[in-house]
Amino acid sequence: MRVAAPQGSARAPVVRMQGVGKTFNGTVVALRDMDLTAREGDFISLLGPSGCGKSTALRLIAGLIEPTRGRIEWTGGAPDLGVVFQEPTLMPWATVAHNVWLPLRLRGQSFDAVRADVEEALDLVGLADFPDAYPRELSGGMKMRVSIARAMVTHPRVILMDEPFAALDEITRFKLNDDLLALKEKIGCTVIFVTHSVFESVFLSDRIVVMAARPGRVIRELAVDAPYPRSEDFRTSAEYARHTRAATDALHDAMAAA
Ligand SMILES: Nc1ncnc2c1ncn2[C@@H]1O[C@H](COP(=O)(O)OP(=O)(O)OP(=O)(O)O)[C@@H](O)[C@H]1O
Ligand SMILES: [Mg+2]
Repeated sequence: MRVAAPQGSARAPVVRMQGVGKTFNGTVVALRDMDLTAREGDFISLLGPSGCGKSTALRLIAGLIEPTRGRIEWTGGAPDLGVVFQEPTLMPWATVAHNVWLPLRLRGQSFDAVRADVEEALDLVGLADFPDAYPRELSGGMKMRVSIARAMVTHPRVILMDEPFAALDEITRFKLNDDLLALKEKIGCTVIFVTHSVFESVFLSDRIVVMAARPGRVIRELAVDAPYPRSEDFRTSAEYARHTRAATDALHDAMAAA
């Protein structure tokens, strides 16, 4: 597994968006002129109201859709990423282990050849004891953990997450936020995370990209310079309150700008 990247601007860029725009059907400007550089080890949140182009930005980075204008460049050439969507999208007929195997299977690797990688990924998300369970036997939080393990099993440089915890209750969400940060520290990947939640974005990120709708665009970028690891102490700190206030103000500006 990769070790955590050093802090600061010395970290190498992993993926860069330059002047990226996306217009649907020739009329709907889902995203306008977005610049974003994600570096090794960054935790970036895209925060903004519904319709501001967060999912569009993520799908562009994932290569699921093509930009109308601008460029997306990966250092080292090929995209190297895992994706986690709001719905865990597991195969109901397959076990937990076989669900996590999927991206490796698509690369032509047999289960036996990658069994250790699947077990490692399940261990990292706290599901080492559930390889043979079926999705219907799992809670919502556990299903999301399987989905995260599946995104990580290929050891990608970047993990893209589109509101992964939005459907979960607050306690489960806090727990998954804690675990996600621990996991990220352990594997040293870059995370780009979409959320509506100011609280979640401040807790998780070192940068928050605030977006506005109609047309979808970036209106501000906030740095959350609190050190990692972050724990419950951070959630109740004055520093956290200060950052959530700044992010809330930016979000209000985003709503007013739409
Ligand atoms: N495939 C598509 N065809 C046409 N319009 C689209 C398509 N995908 C997105 N849009 C439009 O682009 C805009 C941005 O959508 P997007 O899904 O990126 O927003 P979002 O910020 O993710 O919103 P939400 O928070 O509700 O998920 C919206 O106006 C949406 O209707
Ligand atoms: Mg969306």
